[in-house]
Amino acid sequence: MDRMSWFLHDRFGMFIHWGLYALPARHEWVKQQEQLDDTWYDRYFEHFDPDLFRPEEWADRAAEAGMKYMVITSKHHEGFCLWDSKLTDYKATNTPAGRDLLRPMFDAFRSRGLKVGFYHSLIDWHHPDFLIDDMHPLRNHPDREKLNEGRDPKKYAQYLHGQVRELLTEYGKIDVLFYDFSYPNRDENGNPRPWLGKGREEWESEKLLEMTRELQPHIVVNDRLDLIEQGGWDYRTPEQYVPKDGVTMDGKPVSWEACQTFSGSWGYHRDEASWKSVEQLVQLLIDHVSKAGNLLLNVGPTARGEFDSRAIDRLQGMGEWMRSHERSIYGCGPAPDGFEPPQDCPLTYNAEAKRLYVHVFAWPIHHLHLEGMGGKVEYAQLLNDASEVKMIEAGPSHLAGPVEHKGQSKLLTLQLPVRKPPVTVPVIELFLK
Ligand code: GLC
Repeated sequence: MDRMSWFLHDRFGMFIHWGLYALPARHEWVKQQEQLDDTWYDRYFEHFDPDLFRPEEWADRAAEAGMKYMVITSKHHEGFCLWDSKLTDYKATNTPAGRDLLRPMFDAFRSRGLKVGFYHSLIDWHHPDFLIDDMHPLRNHPDREKLNEGRDPKKYAQYLHGQVRELLTEYGKIDVLFYDFSYPNRDENGNPRPWLGKGREEWESEKLLEMTRELQPHIVVNDRLDLIEQGGWDYRTPEQYVPKDGVTMDGKPVSWEACQTFSGSWGYHRDEASWKSVEQLVQLLIDHVSKAGNLLLNVGPTARGEFDSRAIDRLQGMGEWMRSHERSIYGCGPAPDGFEPPQDCPLTYNAEAKRLYVHVFAWPIHHLHLEGMGGKVEYAQLLNDASEVKMIEAGPSHLAGPVEHKGQSKLLTLQLPVRKPPVTVPVIELFLK
């Protein structure tokens, strides 16, 4: 599909979760998890003052990390809006921040050549017409029934559609829309679920998607409007895991992007200790691309408006690797059939350039054996410094082992330096015949 071509080429984007939850700094679901009411949560609204917010720096960090697009939370489940919406007072302009925070962000990222999009929460734990369901912060409130009296889901749907209309008409060209999320009362087979949730009926998803496509025909839209079977999506969105063999539907591969965090939560979390290392993150990116997926990697800026030092460290580390290895990521996808990756060596392939990339997660001693690749490679080099890697087209030889090797005529053996090249993940670039 044409509107997807840039998306599938670029492969690597920055997710940004920023809202009032940056102040409690203990998960963006804090209102729900701790069952906080609006009065209590108001303290964050009153103290939201991102005095160090420099969107140009965010954009620079993303660009330097090799990211090609960004997706920012216009509104998360808490209902707080980063832009100057005419449809609510619950927005950044009415906090000590005192201004629209979305516009300067889009400007900054666009000026660095990145595409821009927004994540918009279908869920809203602040709106007075949003029915309190089994996931709402007030789900266990003793007066739940009473609090629900007079709430009009239709009015909420109008609000939702009206805000998306604002975002799609007043902020220039928007490249991505990430709706989040549906939890309908029925399962995939239409059988009722034991809890009260919301899905395409409540969001009026068909209408919402129609408007989205009408206002920005080129936009790519994710898959969380509860319109999977209806085909109301451009790409699937696994979250916090890498699907073993990519994503397929009815046996056919489909476009996908997985979103991942540095440490577990999406909003800024001060005390989380489960940060992934630069090496793990580079491997994660490679893993996605080798399975035909994009990686949308999340940053949760602080309430002062900065990326914290742990995020900066990871982004710099990834950027360092990307600087000399981006060729194995942009414009790449899985290896063609018949190319089997050696153990812990995911492959990516650029079909246009006819180059295959071997990502060596565990550096072997002297030799790397590539099954089935004999006779197919014209030239091989390390990607980090373009130094030649000698190839041995193996007949029966000591390199293939004392036992006669099955399919030996197809074996290609690469002669590697003893020392692992000084990069996070070494890559061997194979120019195919
Ligand atoms: C979820 C969560 C959320 C996060 C999102 C990212 O569904 O509700 O907090 O924003 O996924 O994909």
